[in-house]
Amino acid sequence: MTIGVIGTGNMGTLLIESFIRSKAIQPSEFVITNRTLSKAESLGKKYEGIQVVPNAESVFREAKTIFICVKPLSIYPLLKKVGDVTEQDHLVISITSPISVEQLESSLPCPAARVIPSIVNQTLSGSTLLTFGNRCTEEIKTSLIQLFQSISNPIEIDEEITRVSSDLSSCGPAFLSYLFERMISAAVSTTEITEEKATQLLTDMVIGVGKLFEEKAYTLDTLKKKVMVKGGVTGVGIQILEDEIGEVFEHLFEATQMKFIEDHKKVDPQFSV
Ligand SMILES: NC(=O)c1ccc[n+]([C@@H]2O[C@H](COP(=O)([O-])OP(=O)(O)OC[C@H]3O[C@@H](n4cnc5c(N)ncnc54)[C@H](OP(=O)(O)O)[C@@H]3O)[C@@H](O)[C@H]2O)c1
Repeated sequence: MTIGVIGTGNMGTLLIESFIRSKAIQPSEFVITNRTLSKAESLGKKYEGIQVVPNAESVFREAKTIFICVKPLSIYPLLKKVGDVTEQDHLVISITSPISVEQLESSLPCPAARVIPSIVNQTLSGSTLLTFGNRCTEEIKTSLIQLFQSISNPIEIDEEITRVSSDLSSCGPAFLSYLFERMISAAVSTTEITEEKATQLLTDMVIGVGKLFEEKAYTLDTLKKKVMVKGGVTGVGIQILEDEIGEVFEHLFEATQMKFIEDHKKVDPQFSV
């Protein structure tokens, strides 16, 4: 299997390195390129066997399954650029949320899919969000799901829940990190604990909680109830959260939906659908 990757920034690199780490794809099966070619060349030096080619057209000539890992506004010009070398038996996979599979297939002669990764996939865990275009056969769907099972839990999503699913799966690590930072700074400002110690304790706790969920020892609710002994301190803390957290998450999801609409307004005029 030859896999093409166009764009070796954060996410393109993450996908290449995760597939290699999981052994699902050998370095010699990758054909990659990047606008600033030196970035792709450094990956080629790191993983012996990766074939680095000078442009996207060469990737389409060498591979049939191609990941496009560039920013949303760069996708349409890129698809136009590779128009002459795109065949019906290609499979184009985009990783960007504001471009639908319908829009991708409208600009291509081949099937298209969208797979939204998450930074946590580099630990071969977390979800990936899969949406298939109408031209994707059952065979294509099965092979893509199998491929992504090597680095994640692939979840098929409808277009309508793209943004909120990406918020939870892909933006979630940043949202949680922000909340943890706020927890640490509050602990430091209200007690004698040092930032270093608070960070250590919280980080250890997060790793442990992840393992508990991985072992399916608890659900969110049973874990909360297990820790919250009747009349104990956890309950006092939970009560503060219930009283004061307000509608912060409703506002967060409303704001990301608004941004999604804005992003679509920029991207949609490029496509005919
Ligand atoms: N970051 C996340 O956690 C995350 C999660 C899920 C999905 N995504 C999506 O993934 C996409 C990429 O994000 P990113 O964070 O990886 O961005 P990034 O780090 O900026 O990477 C984009 C890469 O594409 C290259 N590029 C641009 N136009 C190109 C072209 N015509 N041909 C070849 N290479 C080209 C850029 O090259 P240069 O080196 O010249 O700039 C850059 O290396 C975005 O649409 C984003 O929404 C991101």
